[in-house]
Amino acid sequence: MTSTKNSRVTLVGAGPGGPDLITVRGLNALETADVVLYDALISPALLSCIADNIPIIYVGKRCNQHAFTQDNINILIVEKAFEYGHVVRLKGGDPFVFGRANEEIDYVESFGIPVSVVPGVSSAIAVPSGQGIPMTRRGVSSSFWVMTATKRDGSFSEDLQHASLSSATMVILMGVRKLREIVLEVSKYRGSNTPIAMIQNGTMENESCITATLADIDKILLNIDKTKPGIIVIGDVVAEHPSFFQEQVQRVLHSGL
Ligand SMILES: C[S@@+](CC[C@H](N)C(=O)[O-])C[C@H]1O[C@@H](n2cnc3c(N)ncnc32)[C@H](O)[C@@H]1O
Repeated sequence: MTSTKNSRVTLVGAGPGGPDLITVRGLNALETADVVLYDALISPALLSCIADNIPIIYVGKRCNQHAFTQDNINILIVEKAFEYGHVVRLKGGDPFVFGRANEEIDYVESFGIPVSVVPGVSSAIAVPSGQGIPMTRRGVSSSFWVMTATKRDGSFSEDLQHASLSSATMVILMGVRKLREIVLEVSKYRGSNTPIAMIQNGTMENESCITATLADIDKILLNIDKTKPGIIVIGDVVAEHPSFFQEQVQRVLHSGL
């Protein structure tokens, strides 16, 4: 493939969901795009900032919509770069956090097309932060561990055990469907009163956050939408969330103490 266009690709982190949480540099990149390829979880309000004459193409992988494979996406980026010139590849959060950015970069560069990256605000930190749940707190947690619970074959990652054995705040992405199994695994190493939060649609208008303890996980399981992505936070920092305190009062009252 060759082109007379000035082909280039910019991977832009769109931020965690709220349309105003993209960076200024990301917005500037969108203004110079000739075509935009965007993921699931990108806010429609952010897409509406793109000029009307610029094609915007959905390449998300979520199950209830047309699903693109990573290979399809790589090929499409290159085709559009040759066809239009500047491709902005808009990705959720930060491109390098569970974003498969390296695969896209390697493929595109193998065609001699230059790639640059605009960092994004990752949901891993911003979504708990938006709920007032700190990643670290003096005297409570001095580190945090961002992970996916499962490996490619669906089995638990060893990191889940290592993190559970540490005192780090655990931030688990892509774990909604396996929440019960994750909690069972973590409970082998952390006390049953350990606080846990599940946040869905974080930083957006329809955001929800449910807190509980590991022992009370059914409360979360009964109240979440398992078809929607979410972030699980496990650790004493979750007790900073106002709902956790209210729940704690209820737990004590109902225990008859
Ligand atoms: C494939 S990972 C990509 C993460 C992204 N690169 C980032 O830095 O935020 C997608 C996962 O991020 C989490 N996630 C992203 N945005 C979210 C949001 N607004 N609310 C809750 N979870 C979110 C969910 O766990 C989801 O399954």
